[in-house]
Amino acid sequence: MRQKLAAGNWKMHGTRASLVEVRALVAAHPDPAVEVLICPPATLLAWMDAEIGQAPIRTGGQDCHAAASGAHTGDIAAAMLADAGASHVILGHSERRADHGEADATVRAKTEAAHAADLTAIVCVGETLAERDAGRTLDVVSGQLAGSLPDGARGRNTVVAYEPVWAIGTGRTPTEAQIAEVHAHIRAELRARFGAAEAERFRLLYGGSVKPANAAGIFAIAEVDGALVGGASLKAADFSAIISALEQAPAPG
Ligand code: PGA
Repeated sequence: MRQKLAAGNWKMHGTRASLVEVRALVAAHPDPAVEVLICPPATLLAWMDAEIGQAPIRTGGQDCHAAASGAHTGDIAAAMLADAGASHVILGHSERRADHGEADATVRAKTEAAHAADLTAIVCVGETLAERDAGRTLDVVSGQLAGSLPDGARGRNTVVAYEPVWAIGTGRTPTEAQIAEVHAHIRAELRARFGAAEAERFRLLYGGSVKPANAAGIFAIAEVDGALVGGASLKAADFSAIISALEQAPAPG
């Protein structure tokens, strides 16, 4: 059975003062029944790791370079994230794709680098509003999956996050039917590429304006194994409510 995952993406928010939120989260969830992950800015990774101590909350990066090391000013290698305590890394987030022109092939190379450093890759896919309005959502997601997932992707080292670009940071969320349709499609694509048994091992997250008020409804949707949470992960009280909703959600497949 897939382990449910509540992942927080702090994006470019937070300084050491923000670690007070992590302290509160650890206190609220000393023994979470789901996997809990926070992906802070890289500057906070080691501090956060120290703050978490032995508590069962994991940390992750928000991006990594495809190379193991080298002359890449400003970039961070997957092994460096691991060295700072990370177990996961978010790759191909729509903000990376838009702000840094990351194409699927780049995301695939980064995913391979993450796997080589024993990090679990959270690979993000999702359509823009124009693509949804044009009826191209499933095609876009198929193309991103085909291009972004390396052949070595497996359920144990890769999570797929469906994040419609128009739902990120906007307060708008797709209908439950729209989320269900795309998640079922992603599972079918994984089945076609990796085989039926392996496809069942990949966790599929929904991301885009998840908050305490809509979390339980989203977690009740078939094939939703958790969430990638941006804004609502910054405050312990909000993220804690989302974690609790996930703990109470029906068991995934
Ligand atoms: P949001 O961001 O929850 O603030 O919409 C989600 C994400 O980008 O991962």
